[in-house]
Amino acid sequence: MEITQQLKEIEKAALREIETSRSLKEVQDLRIRYLGRKSRITSILKELGSLPKEIRPEVGRVSNEIKRCIEDAIENRGEDLSEDIFSGLDEKEKIDITEPGIKGERGTLHPITQLRMELEDIFMSMGFTIATGPEIELDYYNFEALNIPQDHPARDIQDTIWTIDGNLLRTHTSSVQIRTMEKLKPPIRIVAPGRVFRYEETNASHEHTFYQVEGLMVDRNISVSNLIAVMRTILREVFQKDVAVRLRPGYFPFVEPGFELDISCHLCDGNGCQVCKYSGWEELLGCGLVHPNVLRMSGIDPEEYSGFAFGMGLDRLVMMRYGIDDIRLFHSGNLRFLEQF
Ligand code: PHE
Repeated sequence: MEITQQLKEIEKAALREIETSRSLKEVQDLRIRYLGRKSRITSILKELGSLPKEIRPEVGRVSNEIKRCIEDAIENRGEDLSEDIFSGLDEKEKIDITEPGIKGERGTLHPITQLRMELEDIFMSMGFTIATGPEIELDYYNFEALNIPQDHPARDIQDTIWTIDGNLLRTHTSSVQIRTMEKLKPPIRIVAPGRVFRYEETNASHEHTFYQVEGLMVDRNISVSNLIAVMRTILREVFQKDVAVRLRPGYFPFVEPGFELDISCHLCDGNGCQVCKYSGWEELLGCGLVHPNVLRMSGIDPEEYSGFAFGMGLDRLVMMRYGIDDIRLFHSGNLRFLEQF
């Protein structure tokens, strides 16, 4: 067959195949087959020099023309197909678009975070604002200004984690009381949720790292009854019912009088279990009226003002609310535990 005739045949076949191609991959394969190094057109163009002089220009012209024509067709088909990439995808790719999708895993807030936020809302609705302080604290704010003298047992190396430069990881959020009174004048009403640290062995009811919510209210004529009223309201909101509480005298150098407030153990309904150490009561918070020395040291006149303060164990509260019997679960990273909240 005459070469030009052959070329025309190739052109026809190529255009037909390009026209009916269904994917970019197919188009790419056609480009290799018809225009690639091993294609007929490429070899004809390569061997032009060996053809008889009379037909050489004609064959050259026709080959180049056809080559360009095929190139254009491939280019256009490629564009059409890529514009069209999503239409008919279900057919081509055999996707069943009616099949239900794979559900993504969704995280939730940690139960301690959830209750912290809830408490913040409850306190804010009672006119409290949220205060914060650093986790690495000065001796002054954690101890000194809280009426805890140099040789007080609470400073014992057993309880406190000290940094090498003489600071410490706060052992309670009471440090925020001082930082707040330094800044604000009465009337003061703040709560300070935060993480605290103790040098302590862990067991089902003790952690070295846990959470407290500190509260402080300073004004004229604040008394223990204000404290009890606020505590009752908070607990009723958290547990959605009246909770049995009891006040015991408790010693904290920064309050006078000082109390421990217990709530009836929710895990065992007061019958006694591992968490409440078989007493039926669970220690929830320390509280009391702010010691006059503390007010004075922070620049507030104890003759004119009084206040109450409390430090609530947030982990304990979460445990009571959900019936969790081991505080170590909170930091366990155990998804089977965390996914329940
Ligand atoms: N800071 C005390 C503790 O960590 C709790 C407390 C706070 C007691 C405020 C009285 C007043 O145990």
